[in-house]
Amino acid sequence: MEYGTISGLDKPVSRLVLGCADLKDTAVLDAALDAGINAFDTAHVYGGSEELLGRWLKGRALDKLVIETKGCHPLALRPDRVTPACLVKDVEASLRRLGVDCIDLFLLHRDSRHAQVGEIVETLNHLRKQGKLRAFGGSNWAAARIREANDYAAAHGLTPFTVSSPHFGLACQVRDPWGGGAGCVTLTGEGQEKEQAWYRESGTAVLAFSSLARGLLSGKISSADPNRADKLDAAGRRGYDCPENWERLSRVELLAREKGCTVAQLSLAWLFHQGMNAYAIFSTGSPARIAVNCSALEVALTPEECRWLNLETGGR
Ligand SMILES: NC(=O)c1ccc[n+]([C@@H]2O[C@H](COP(=O)([O-])OP(=O)(O)OC[C@H]3O[C@@H](n4cnc5c(N)ncnc54)[C@H](OP(=O)(O)O)[C@@H]3O)[C@@H](O)[C@H]2O)c1
Repeated sequence: MEYGTISGLDKPVSRLVLGCADLKDTAVLDAALDAGINAFDTAHVYGGSEELLGRWLKGRALDKLVIETKGCHPLALRPDRVTPACLVKDVEASLRRLGVDCIDLFLLHRDSRHAQVGEIVETLNHLRKQGKLRAFGGSNWAAARIREANDYAAAHGLTPFTVSSPHFGLACQVRDPWGGGAGCVTLTGEGQEKEQAWYRESGTAVLAFSSLARGLLSGKISSADPNRADKLDAAGRRGYDCPENWERLSRVELLAREKGCTVAQLSLAWLFHQGMNAYAIFSTGSPARIAVNCSALEVALTPEECRWLNLETGGR
């Protein structure tokens, strides 16, 4: 395992992060720990995920683990929850469910056009001073909004956002996986070069979610399968089913065969070759797949291979 550093956090963070959105039992948490993963991505809205993670955390060396959770997600009857009051309420509730005194990484799960970044940054700093969270940032926040928050922090001598969790990976996200208005932000696709450049320059940590495109890039679906799109779930089809992504998969399959690695390893390796302070969040219900996916860090790719995998060139 390789570990990176995130400003504001005084412990290393594994480059592979276990996604806990569909956490069913603790066997995957044990397998992740055995594979060297020390970082776990959960959220207020992931069903019982925080509680289950919290039970597993009891008695463990929290100084070695990185727990990332998210709040302020819109609710059907309350769409605008990026407010100081919701933030405080959600942090307190996550602390209780996780059974910890301090959250290592706290992210605003979505942005809202009604949110005033100034009061949000003030509240996050207040919670940090109270010892309730260590580092913080946005999930599904555009780089411009993170810059706005950080300009406010700089002007007021406050701690800025140091972490961001957008969708990122070799497959581009063509539509919001959870439907219109869900507010997902991706670093993939055309016109994202400036955003990506900002992440490279600023060193802001990128916690890339759905890094295997909900299984499209995992090896469980063949690009040659005539029913390939049906093998994805509804969010996967909405978000990632397009001819370009299947072509990317067919190139991954070819290169993975040549390099003697798995499709998932090669897909994740691409992400680690993008010059960012990047961490790949992936999920699996299978403990055995975790260590195998972590070996993605051992797969070397040339810049030409990366461009070819991303359809930027016809040959490599
Ligand atoms: N911040 C946000 O808004 C946001 C949004 C979406 C997701 N997330 C986070 O990101 C995490 C991961 O995203 P995700 O669950 O959407 O999708 P993902 O990690 O891109 O893909 C998960 C799929 O890949 C399969 N898979 C993984 N490794 C495999 C392997 N070695 N071989 C074959 N199949 C493999 C899994 O199947 P098996 O279970 O059968 O292995 C599962 O179907 C979530 O759990 C959540 O923590 C955050």
